[in-house]
Amino acid sequence: MNYRVPRTRKEIFETLIKGLQRLEYRGYDSAGVAIDGNNHEVKERHIQLVKKRGKVKALDEELYKQDSMDLKVEFETHFGIAHTRWATHGVPSAVNSHPQRSDKGNEFVVIHNGIITNYKDLRKFLESKGYEFESETDTETIAKLIKYVFDNRETEDITFSTLVERVIQQLEGAFALVFKSVHYPGEAVATRRGSPLLIGVRSKYKLSTEQIPILYRTCTLENVKNICKTRMKRLDSSACLHAVGDKAVEFFFASDASAIIEHTNRVIFLEDDDIAAVADGKLSIHRVKRSASDDPSRAIQTLQMELQQIMKGNFSAFMQKEIFEQPESVFNTMRGRVNFETNTVLLGGLKDHLKEIRRCRRLIVIGCGTSYHAAVATRQVLEELTELPVMVELASDFLDRNTPVFRDDVCFFISQSGETADTLLALRYCKDRGALTVGVTNTVGSSISRETDCGVHINAGPEIGVASTKAYTSQFISLVMFGLMMSEDRISLQNRRQEIIRGLRSLPELIKEVLSLEEKIHDLALELYTQRSLLVMGRGYNYATCLEGALKIKEITYMHSEGILAGELKHGPLALIDKQMPVIMVIMKDPCFAKCQNALQQVTARQGRPIILCSKDDTESSKFAYKTIELPHTVDCLQGILSVIPLQLLSFHLAVLRGYDVDFPRNLAKSVTVE
Ligand code: G6P
Repeated sequence: MNYRVPRTRKEIFETLIKGLQRLEYRGYDSAGVAIDGNNHEVKERHIQLVKKRGKVKALDEELYKQDSMDLKVEFETHFGIAHTRWATHGVPSAVNSHPQRSDKGNEFVVIHNGIITNYKDLRKFLESKGYEFESETDTETIAKLIKYVFDNRETEDITFSTLVERVIQQLEGAFALVFKSVHYPGEAVATRRGSPLLIGVRSKYKLSTEQIPILYRTCTLENVKNICKTRMKRLDSSACLHAVGDKAVEFFFASDASAIIEHTNRVIFLEDDDIAAVADGKLSIHRVKRSASDDPSRAIQTLQMELQQIMKGNFSAFMQKEIFEQPESVFNTMRGRVNFETNTVLLGGLKDHLKEIRRCRRLIVIGCGTSYHAAVATRQVLEELTELPVMVELASDFLDRNTPVFRDDVCFFISQSGETADTLLALRYCKDRGALTVGVTNTVGSSISRETDCGVHINAGPEIGVASTKAYTSQFISLVMFGLMMSEDRISLQNRRQEIIRGLRSLPELIKEVLSLEEKIHDLALELYTQRSLLVMGRGYNYATCLEGALKIKEITYMHSEGILAGELKHGPLALIDKQMPVIMVIMKDPCFAKCQNALQQVTARQGRPIILCSKDDTESSKFAYKTIELPHTVDCLQGILSVIPLQLLSFHLAVLRGYDVDFPRNLAKSVTVE
């Protein structure tokens, strides 16, 4: 939203569309915008909605087809909203996409990230009052509800934020919402609960404050009449953020910093139930109740993220770029934390809780998808270094089982986005039971990083490809670093610790060596891309590589793929093996080597033709291989970092050869913020 910063309609379109494109990785089945309409005389009193099924590009093209729209018209104050949708309620279609509207006249429009769990009751109520619904979405209920509150207002001068305040008191579930209305031209109101929302601030001029004080209202539905009399516009200027001297300022509301980073790196993270309103160029934040954190203000923070970090560079897909970033991303994960001279590790976000963690009964490591695999990959080394029992859990299953959790448990939540609904719910479940909670995320300011007692930021940089790659290797290293920190005083473990720390030091170089195998892996993909199935088999430290490799393959190539524990071969999977079935075996020089040789014999005895990922000096396995990919050797517990990379590359090339969109696989989203 711009205030006293003249912008043409074309510029407004471009800002909205670019922002959407940066967020497209979160969901992408349809998109829409709401901007002020074309009638100049009453331009701020008419809202134009443009929505389109498909990618943001389709919406962009559609916008320019609206030939009644004057692209050159300038707005001094303008507030437009835009959204990409990933269907939860209702099929992907223009009518189900956002913004959703209150009525055919578009009096109120809203965009929503999250899920409203009581929408059916609300819809029933509103239908009984004569409100007609046009979509199948939960979000439309919000648009209708705000109109209902407006239509039934007790006083003419009710403020926009008061309406929103009353609406959210009726909502259950998770949401980040931004509203626009013809009744409040040039004003914006946004709020959140359980879904992320931030506000970017751009101004050439000095700002009135760096800390925005929160205004509280002691409000219940019974005393709404009183609230209605409070006008946000009359608020004292000291409670608002604006450019000094009534100068130009622009505000950007977004669910992720990547959408706005090219405009500003100055942002305010909203807390659950904050209501942020911009009117007359002033931003104010208020709440009905005091916040759980009881922080009386919201600070403007400066993000260190650069735009180029989130651009594709010279790669054909974000996923490919992210695979190739791994020498740097793993280095960044360790930077300033691992001291290779003194063989010590310090994770600043955990140090105050270390004593408590050391006293715990067990560690529970929880995540979904790739993040769960990072837990599987490091379980053994964590057990070894912490000498504690370690449970690894898929968040959804952990919750389904009502798993017993105790006050002296320490629960880790692994999540690239920090927003995955199942992981977040598991976190709240463990918190309720008094366990110490630790976040391992890649997103500063994410819900998981804020709601945990302490944590580690993996510092891998933004990951945009839906299929996670560099986050996995950085999560892996973060967990290993935690184990090393825990074992610092264990005399019996000193040699092992030194060996692992030396291994960490050489990882970036070894990753580069693995990446240089790309051409060979591409050739392998040429042989395999027409297959329907691909098995990936291994055990011990490399079992997680098989699970993660198979996940990458199914996610982006749509081939059937299974990660198989070689120890289970005789209990079922062996029946799948024949001359035709493509099998990849991960066999490394580690304590499981001999057992893997057994598995290899069993596979070749059934005429299987295994492609083997093995150590460079392994002449034994290569004798039985149809093909080998030879990898540099590292410490056994870190080998999984190297062995997963060929499978990341293989899935990428298979997907490209099969003609699929690598970064946006069908039916999947980067950040799954619904259960
Ligand atoms: C989705 C993504 C995966 C990711 C998983 C967990 O399924 O497509 O790439 O591994 O969510 O996400 P998180 O952000 O919690 O690591």
